Amino acid sequence: MNSPFGAHVDTPVERFGVPQVYRMRSMDAGAMFSKDDISVIVRICNEPLLWRFLFRDRLGGRPRYQEQDALAFLDWARAGWISGEHMIFVLRDENEHIGACVDVGRLDESREALIGYWAGAHHRGVMTNALVRLAQLSKEAGYLKLVALVEPENVRSARVLTRAGFTWLGSEEHPITVFDQPVGRALRYLRYERAL
Ligand SMILES: CC(C)(COP(=O)(O)OP(=O)(O)OC[C@H]1O[C@@H](n2cnc3c(N)ncnc32)[C@H](O)[C@@H]1OP(=O)(O)O)[C@@H](O)C(=O)NCCC(=O)NCCS
Repeated sequence: MNSPFGAHVDTPVERFGVPQVYRMRSMDAGAMFSKDDISVIVRICNEPLLWRFLFRDRLGGRPRYQEQDALAFLDWARAGWISGEHMIFVLRDENEHIGACVDVGRLDESREALIGYWAGAHHRGVMTNALVRLAQLSKEAGYLKLVALVEPENVRSARVLTRAGFTWLGSEEHPITVFDQPVGRALRYLRYERAL
């Protein structure tokens, strides 16, 4: 299996409210990441909001997201693009600094997939437009529906989804996962969907 988005994606995404254009690029087999990129990922992933909603329950009790976590993430991202298991896009600002990430799951028979995303605090205004772009790309790739699961306290994330055309459909239990593997606990999430 291969990424349904093709070998490489590089597309512009405007930042809301300011005249800045980010590039949304596939983390594919040829994607290159510098030492600075790794430090930036580590810094953003330790920001309080990201830490709370993405890593507090996923790092086995470790208090900080570390360089080894970022390196494992880059390997997992590239492997996912090659296999088609999960496709991750990184958003870089006009100085090529990493500011945000979005991901979408495998294109299977159901043609619906879970998405995920994060944005650094200094990159506000990119995520809604990035999800709108992800929806367009996913539709072209053959997906019928995108699904997001959001913790009820994650108000900022719920707002992004509403702005990006997703609808709240109720709540459901779902295992907490790390690199797509359940870590043994489940949480109740709000379920949002967008038909494509
Ligand atoms: C969830 C998360 C990605 C949201 O990032 P964000 O920068 O707030 O999202 P946006 O870029 O869409 O919005 C930023 C601001 O721009 C505005 N904006 C952005 N695009 C807009 C648009 N197209 N139209 C109107 N307003 C827009 C929003 O109103 C928002 O304003 P506010 O800060 O005054 O509320 C970020 O908080 C995060 O990474 N959280 C931790 C990780 C996480 O929770 N991930 C999701 C797990 S389900």
